[in-house]
Amino acid sequence: MKNKSLVSIDDLTTDEILKILNLAEGFEKEPVQRLLEGKVIATLFFEPSTRTRLSFESAVNRLGGKIVGFAEASTSSVTKGETLNDTIRTVSNYCDLIVMRHPVEGSARFASEIAGVPVINAGDGANQHPTQTLLDLYSIRKTQGTLDNLNIFIVGDLKYGRTVHSLMMAMSRWNTTFNFIAPDELKMPDEFKLYLENLGLRYYEHNDFTEIISRADIIYMTRVQKERFSDPIEYEKVKNVYVLKDKMLRNTKPNLRILHPLPRVNEIHTDVDRNPKAYYFEQALNGVYTRQAILCALLGIK
Ligand code: CP
Repeated sequence: MKNKSLVSIDDLTTDEILKILNLAEGFEKEPVQRLLEGKVIATLFFEPSTRTRLSFESAVNRLGGKIVGFAEASTSSVTKGETLNDTIRTVSNYCDLIVMRHPVEGSARFASEIAGVPVINAGDGANQHPTQTLLDLYSIRKTQGTLDNLNIFIVGDLKYGRTVHSLMMAMSRWNTTFNFIAPDELKMPDEFKLYLENLGLRYYEHNDFTEIISRADIIYMTRVQKERFSDPIEYEKVKNVYVLKDKMLRNTKPNLRILHPLPRVNEIHTDVDRNPKAYYFEQALNGVYTRQAILCALLGIK
């Protein structure tokens, strides 16, 4: 894995994914270790973020490394017209690894091809968010005790939600049964369904999940991605299409866990927060351990 970029979850073999999850378990037990001393990590966020940027920065700090970068493009020379090419080539000279979030699909792949250091995709438009997926896998394995043969409900914006695209591709390695719950306007794109079909995997599409919720091992709720809609009226039509409430969880499996990459808007009522099946804030914490593991793996630090 040393010096590899992480742009798509498919850049990692199953063995490499499991190695990262195992490393993350070590960081959960012992989060403060000086493994990145002398290393500089650049965090370039061309789009807003709370969890991804801050958990990466927390991970670097706990490992004794240093951070350079920006939290919004408006404070960089992009505002003067500098291209992504020139920004990446320049920043490569200042750091050992780049973490980048950018609104354009494919931008992370482009950056990885011109950077002289590994690039981690922290979200490229509606395409992929592989480090979120690794923390999701960590959370699923921790709560279910396995990644094998689970029934996963993925709910909400399956069209623009990059986290669900990466998660679906990753979970396809463990004989998952997928239930995709979305309004017609936000269904899982055909290219991702074809991905599953080519692997001979089962998926089911629904507009509602109240009748089948008792079958779920994991419910992965997602926000409708307002920023990806060109027409605000279209967003208004679907923004509150699913709202998970505590009373809906009455007849669910004892080991069910509710995940959400966050931020949430209305799709999980706050009355779910007190339910022991709610796991989204612990999931966000797992992001620190998982990102510590990803950084060490890509920098070849044992
Ligand atoms: N899950 C996630 O990507 O959250 P942020 O947008 O806050 O980074």
